[in-house]
Amino acid sequence: MIKVSAPGKLVIFGEHAVVYNRPCIVTAVNHRMSVSLDKRKDDKIVINAPEVDVKNYTFTINELKKDHPRQVAFVTSAIRNFFEKYKVKSGLDVSTKSEFSSKFGFGSSSAVTVCTLKALSEVFKIKMSNKELFDISYKAVLDVQKVGSGFDIASSIYGGTIYFVTGGKAIKPLSKNIPLVIGYTGIKADTVTLINMVKGKMNENKEEIEEIFDKMKEISDKAVEFVEKEDLIALGKLMNENQKLLSKLGVSTKELDNLISASLKAGVYGAKLSGAGGGDCMIALTNQKEKAEKAIQKAGGIIIPVETGVEGVRIE
Ligand code: MEV
Repeated sequence: MIKVSAPGKLVIFGEHAVVYNRPCIVTAVNHRMSVSLDKRKDDKIVINAPEVDVKNYTFTINELKKDHPRQVAFVTSAIRNFFEKYKVKSGLDVSTKSEFSSKFGFGSSSAVTVCTLKALSEVFKIKMSNKELFDISYKAVLDVQKVGSGFDIASSIYGGTIYFVTGGKAIKPLSKNIPLVIGYTGIKADTVTLINMVKGKMNENKEEIEEIFDKMKEISDKAVEFVEKEDLIALGKLMNENQKLLSKLGVSTKELDNLISASLKAGVYGAKLSGAGGGDCMIALTNQKEKAEKAIQKAGGIIIPVETGVEGVRIE
């Protein structure tokens, strides 16, 4: 039996732009997903995923290609891609365990895909570099979800804080500690719906949206230097600029705006939504965590304690 864990993520700069060939900056957080996996003697694949109410979901290897319920689709896609690429097969017992709620956009689908593929490579003794693990995980996720930049997969694999360009065209580790406070709006948002909404806008008004994404690219590029220097004042300003552009794109909400402005009034360096928007979480950059947390809570937000820049995928 092999057990593998991988972290969730938070985008600091460049969400949405990263779907369109621009960079983003993402940090891995200490809420981990884990997968335990072992071969079986028969041809059955049995999946347990208690956090999404899946108990002994069973099918045969031949049924891997069939459509499977959403709750197990990332695990089945990972297994199918692995068997096809490496020309192996076996019955399997797979169970997942999550330290974070799939309510938050911390990237549970990517983390579970990465864990499953890393565990398969261990069980079948197939050596994979991080980039090979990225490529097969990205394909497995795209098979299910059709859209996405892959930044969350890279974050689960590499950990730390990384500069990432669409599809893994660049994956560059940056320095680690970025002191963030996370406020959850209490509203679950669907990433694919938001990506498709932005796609609609892009089709209607290409020039305006491309211009927004070019500005977001500039922000992510500038932020690299300030992350390295840990220049929180400069980073905070860039976060505020990025948030303005996200509002222009139409992915911020009243609830996110409230939490962001409450944190800014409490004196944080900068604040913005993190992820696809439409609800979900905001992040605030500050060294005075308690003060910011109190202000966010007072404005109706739920604080999610996180550590950033944590280790990527690992065998437990
Ligand atoms: C979602 O957390 C971030 C997006 O940029 C989607 C993606 O990059 O796959 C909106």
